[in-house]
Amino acid sequence: MLKTAIEAAVEAGGIIAELYPGPRAISLKGFRDLVTDADTAAESAIFKKIQARFPDHAILSEEAGGHVSGSGYTWVVDPLDGTTNYAHRHPVFSVSIGVLEGGEPIVGVIHDPLRHHTFAAFRGGGARLNDEPIHVSGVAGLENALIGIDWGHENEVRERTLNDLHRILPRCGALRAAGSAALTLAYVAAGWNDAYFQPGLRPWDAAAGVLLVNEAGGRCTTLKGDPYRVRFSDCVATNGWIHDELLRLLKRMP
Ligand code: IPD
Ligand code: CA
Ligand code: CA
Repeated sequence: MLKTAIEAAVEAGGIIAELYPGPRAISLKGFRDLVTDADTAAESAIFKKIQARFPDHAILSEEAGGHVSGSGYTWVVDPLDGTTNYAHRHPVFSVSIGVLEGGEPIVGVIHDPLRHHTFAAFRGGGARLNDEPIHVSGVAGLENALIGIDWGHENEVRERTLNDLHRILPRCGALRAAGSAALTLAYVAAGWNDAYFQPGLRPWDAAAGVLLVNEAGGRCTTLKGDPYRVRFSDCVATNGWIHDELLRLLKRMP
């Protein structure tokens, strides 16, 4: 499954990268929620690969929908994470493919087709970038931390994040909003960001990324500090060292 996830993500990434410089077919599928011809072309290629090799597995994908299998395997696919960036030709986006077993991630792959970065993990096997082991950072205090955030699409989510930032910004090293949740989670796994949080994630944004963070030695919870599950929308992912300090500032913990 890991091999197939890597092959599918790299193939989809190739399609996205090839379409990137050309004219774009962009439509609005929801409030501030864009979809392009590249999203659907990448998704079709991923589906073809998964269905040819694992015809019995369930697939949940951003554009095509689907469901999570309660007991079996489910592929959770975001064919293009960072569509707003992509539509603006802002060069930060990724392909994210996770596999769940009984609802828990066991395989996670995030591919950045412009930088040729392939982040991959399987449960119990550690995390890798282009086949080399990666580990979360050792930054132990928020004052030195590079924290990733996202604004999401909804005003309610943006308001919550804005309120959180009033407490976090004066205390952290620096803050970045890259525009691809999956890629920022992969960066936490690689130690390039020390933390990431978002109150409005969907399963396909996080399924692969949280496995990468956990396998790289980090920690993923909800904003209240409960263990993160892919059905939850709020996620705090860190190198572990700064987790409790960040949760206290997010103030949803006693
Ligand atoms: C979005 C990106 C963005 C995050 C949004 C996601 P999409 O995914 O990950 O960074 O803020 O919440 O929906 O729509 O580009 O696949
Ligand atoms: Ca996404
Ligand atoms: Ca997407």
